[in-house]
Amino acid sequence: MTRTLSLLHFHLLLLPFLQLLPSATAATDTPFLGFPSPWARPVASNTTEDDESSSWAAAHAKAVAFVAGLTLTEKVNLTTGTGWEADRCIGMTGGVPRVGFRGLCLMDGPVGVRYTDKNSVFPAGVNVAATFSRRLMRLRGEALGAEFRGKGVDVMLGPVAGALGRVPQGGRNWEGFSPDPYLTGVAIAETVGGIQSRGVVACAKHYILNEQEHYRGSIDVRIDDRTMHELYLWPFADAVRAGVGSVMCSYNKINGTYACENEWTTNYLLKNELGFQGFVMSDWGAQHTTLGSALGGLDMAMPGDGGPAPYRAWWGGALTEAVLRGDVPQWRLDDMAVRIMTAYFRVHTGNYTSRPDINFSAWTNQTVGPLYPAANQSFTVVNEHVDVQSDHASLIREIGAKSIVLLKNQEGLLPLNKPATLAIVGDDARDHPLGPNACPERGCLNGTLAMGYGSGTAEFPYLVSPLTALQLQVQADNTTLIKAVTSNWDLDAARAAAAAADVAIVFAAATAGENFITIDGNAGDRNNLTLWANGDALIRAVAGVNPNTVVVLHTPGPVIIDYAEQHPNVSAILWAGLPGQESGNALVDVLYGRVNPQGRTPFSWGKSVEDYGAQLLFRAENPRAPTQTFDEGVFIDYRWFVKQGMRPTYPFGFGLSYTRFQYSGLSVQLREGARARYEAATGETGPAPTLGVVEPELERHTAPEGFSRISPYVYPWLNNSVSLVSNSTAAGQFPPAAKNGSSQPVLPASGAPGGNPGLFEVMYTATVTINNVGKVAGTEIPQLYIQLGGSDNPFSVLRGFDEVELAPGESKNVTFELTRRDVSNWNTATQNWEITDLEKLVLVGGWSTNTPLSARLPAPAGMTWRQSWE
Ligand SMILES: *[C@@H]1O[C@H](CO)[C@@H](O)[C@H](O)[C@H]1NC(C)=O
Ligand SMILES: *[C@@H]1O[C@H](CO)[C@@H](O)[C@H](O)[C@H]1NC(C)=O
Ligand SMILES: *[C@@H]1O[C@H](CO)[C@@H](O)[C@H](O)[C@H]1NC(C)=O
Ligand SMILES: *[C@@H]1O[C@H](CO)[C@@H](O)[C@H](O)[C@H]1NC(C)=O
Ligand SMILES: *[C@@H]1O[C@H](CO)[C@@H](O)[C@H](O)[C@H]1NC(C)=O
Ligand SMILES: *[C@@H]1O[C@H](CO)[C@@H](O)[C@H](O)[C@H]1NC(C)=O
Ligand SMILES: *[C@@H]1O[C@H](CO)[C@@H](O)[C@H](O)[C@H]1NC(C)=O
Ligand SMILES: *[C@@H]1O[C@H](CO)[C@@H](O)[C@H](O)[C@H]1NC(C)=O
Ligand SMILES: *[C@@H]1O[C@H](CO)[C@@H](O)[C@H](O)[C@H]1NC(C)=O
Ligand SMILES: *[C@@H]1O[C@H](CO)[C@@H](O)[C@H](O)[C@H]1NC(C)=O
Ligand SMILES: *[C@@H]1O[C@H](CO)[C@@H](O)[C@H](O)[C@H]1NC(C)=O
Repeated sequence: MTRTLSLLHFHLLLLPFLQLLPSATAATDTPFLGFPSPWARPVASNTTEDDESSSWAAAHAKAVAFVAGLTLTEKVNLTTGTGWEADRCIGMTGGVPRVGFRGLCLMDGPVGVRYTDKNSVFPAGVNVAATFSRRLMRLRGEALGAEFRGKGVDVMLGPVAGALGRVPQGGRNWEGFSPDPYLTGVAIAETVGGIQSRGVVACAKHYILNEQEHYRGSIDVRIDDRTMHELYLWPFADAVRAGVGSVMCSYNKINGTYACENEWTTNYLLKNELGFQGFVMSDWGAQHTTLGSALGGLDMAMPGDGGPAPYRAWWGGALTEAVLRGDVPQWRLDDMAVRIMTAYFRVHTGNYTSRPDINFSAWTNQTVGPLYPAANQSFTVVNEHVDVQSDHASLIREIGAKSIVLLKNQEGLLPLNKPATLAIVGDDARDHPLGPNACPERGCLNGTLAMGYGSGTAEFPYLVSPLTALQLQVQADNTTLIKAVTSNWDLDAARAAAAAADVAIVFAAATAGENFITIDGNAGDRNNLTLWANGDALIRAVAGVNPNTVVVLHTPGPVIIDYAEQHPNVSAILWAGLPGQESGNALVDVLYGRVNPQGRTPFSWGKSVEDYGAQLLFRAENPRAPTQTFDEGVFIDYRWFVKQGMRPTYPFGFGLSYTRFQYSGLSVQLREGARARYEAATGETGPAPTLGVVEPELERHTAPEGFSRISPYVYPWLNNSVSLVSNSTAAGQFPPAAKNGSSQPVLPASGAPGGNPGLFEVMYTATVTINNVGKVAGTEIPQLYIQLGGSDNPFSVLRGFDEVELAPGESKNVTFELTRRDVSNWNTATQNWEITDLEKLVLVGGWSTNTPLSARLPAPAGMTWRQSWE
């Protein structure tokens, strides 16, 4: 199959290539409503499956009733973590013992329950994105939710939409899904829905623009408003619309202010425009002030300690003081507690009204250990080793197989059919001799790679290596295994084995992760886009002697592989990503044709790192205050390649099958009555409610007499009942609006969780016929792209995909629904989405640069299209 840019629509669409890069749009002149921090309201939900009892409004009512009965320090307790390693979970809030409510247990995410045992390890986010399967995204979310709940976890710290994947080397890209915001938006929404349907609060993280690990704690990212909306905020809007209960603000700064006290991103965008009704928690240690974070919209401080004396915390007792002094209005504290409890009640419905018990400890593998690890006290059974794996292995294997992207398959070498002799080459094929968890948080590259490294990891219950699975297949087939060469450095041995075999499978890998671990000089982000540990030389050595060379790649993102694409002896290339515990079984399913590959690459494969345009900041001019402007705007990944007229090795959305599909008969309909403009949200929020009374007497807010503290727990009580330390410098930094609890105008683009409900009205339907013209059954992933018109827009953007199973000779009609948001741009002046009058096209086909069918969208009522080049 050829991979040329489809020329079919170029005559229509030539101009976008010829025009200049737009300059980043400057921040707008509209009145900026970053203060006050919006308070939660009993809004209607915006997910179709909501019943009355699990709606935001119902949960909000329960939360208000709960919080109204709490004292000042009880409310503060809910907002503040008890401290690093203070309790058994990676994060734990204070509780309300008076009413029998224990604090909330928070755990990483997102490939499985971290720091425990008898859990599953799922394929990474980037793999589930590669399946392009809403069904598998949802099922993975449900299974993850069930495992977290089974361990007694209240909040799963995932899924991830930031890093989105601005730069391919980004250390944590694999935890998320794809640099395409539409694909990531679908994936995060399905994952959130799945997790929360199992009684666990999901957490959309890391909000926002946390696109690299270098300088992540200090980098100040500058971005224009349009890019923010159309690229980085987009998937978070989908998460909010799907009902996500919590959002984690990130380490970096945006426009000069830390994400966790940023009134633009938290108050204005997330809580006001997107109508988010859940709570915002800090990434671990990402909070830097008491007042800035409270007024900037943070609701929960994690892990809780790490602030200044006397409380060793920015909140806890310090927040109690701030409320008593009036520096933080009571309604803001009430709102924090209401948001936390709303998220809690929203998932505790139906079969999940009961409260799970925590039955593991993140801090020890022993059965007996301290209940309070930082205090090293109260030894008891802390690990009950509850097996939560259920039958998830089969789902993990299915996602593993269906996420494999077949990048090259010359002369139909694959699927393999009982080759007489087989050579297996590469360290990445084998088991680590000390087991799959030998390196803490997977901080090495030894043996087969099945997840990245850092906090986004979990302990493998087992890991089926490719070598193990292939050995079983070889045995069943009577194939002779010539030799398994598992050193990447012994090229002579690799050549000798490969030369003697009918088929040689060569494995290579590269890993990425979080910046607290450095591997071979890579501090989280990858230093380069080549394979690690001599992988490229190994592939060349094998391909030099065997004309049936199969390359298998385990990588967190793209690697430079053009030489292998061009090499006549490399007959097949498969990207298997980071497939989780069933790695080898999933791979063998595809190699031998039990699963016909449906994976499509969720990112572009450039020929060099420079090809990507946007670059990672490895060395800041001023390392104390690193700044980066995202001047590439919305042009990342395929949007950039196409704009530059550059051909990547493999374009976004590409992937081969063992069969072939044909597209025909694209038709596009405007929904009857669909109008060009929609109703902007109007009205007012009503004033901020205050719940209960704060007693002014300081002695009401100190620890009860005789209370025995667990040191070094963070508590909500005042240290001193005599006087409050005042800091007028800190309090004076905020405009009066920051404390204004009076009714506020609703933003035009707002109105429901995820944004104005009108954005999700279906404007168009597009139907296309797909035919399996090959000899075997297969699953096609039809992709729909939109051309929004003009040089400020990418040539085309993904706005639809489906998963279509077809028997040989079978055809099916596939219908896509396009919403108003899908065909709109963000207008920075009106602060609203609008359908511009530039003529728009819909392009349908197998991948981003192969869209053989195209059609003009009919202009909606009240609008005439203007051609892009007029
Ligand atoms: C939420 O979305 C559904 C389906 O798109 C829509 O019909 C409904 O009006 C929306 N609900 C609200 C409250 O916005
Ligand atoms: C705050 O939470 C801690 C830990 O759960 C608990 O010991 C303490 O009593 C709580 N304080 C209040 C005021 O409820
Ligand atoms: C970004 O910072 C500039 C300079 O301080 C300011 O003028 C602008 O309003 C800010 N934009 C946002 C969206 O906060
Ligand atoms: C509750 O659990 C039962 C039994 O497992 C199941 O049939 C039912 O669908 C569940 N209901 C909800 C609302 O999840
Ligand atoms: C572990 O916690 C879960 C959730 O509450 C519960 O269903 C299970 O019974 C607990 N198991 C043990 C052994 O405590
Ligand atoms: C628990 O065991 C894993 C290996 O399975 C190891 O990586 C980890 O460091 C251990 N954790 C602790 C707290 O000892
Ligand atoms: C294990 O991996 C590290 C880097 O990830 C490398 O330096 C080391 O040589 C590897 N060890 C073996 C035995 O391959
Ligand atoms: C493998 O070889 C044995 C003995 O030659 C034969 O009985 C068996 O059927 C063969 N199996 C396969 C799968 O070809
Ligand atoms: C890229 O980085 C990996 C891992 O550090 C290293 O093994 C490899 O040699 C590097 N590639 C180049 C071309 O330097
Ligand atoms: C008062 O607040 C300012 C600004 O936040 C801070 O720089 C200063 O250290 C604070 N002073 C004290 C005594 O806490
Ligand atoms: C697909 O739609 C076309 C046009 O509406 C129709 O003629 C055809 O029968 C449909 N095919 C299938 C398989 O439904």
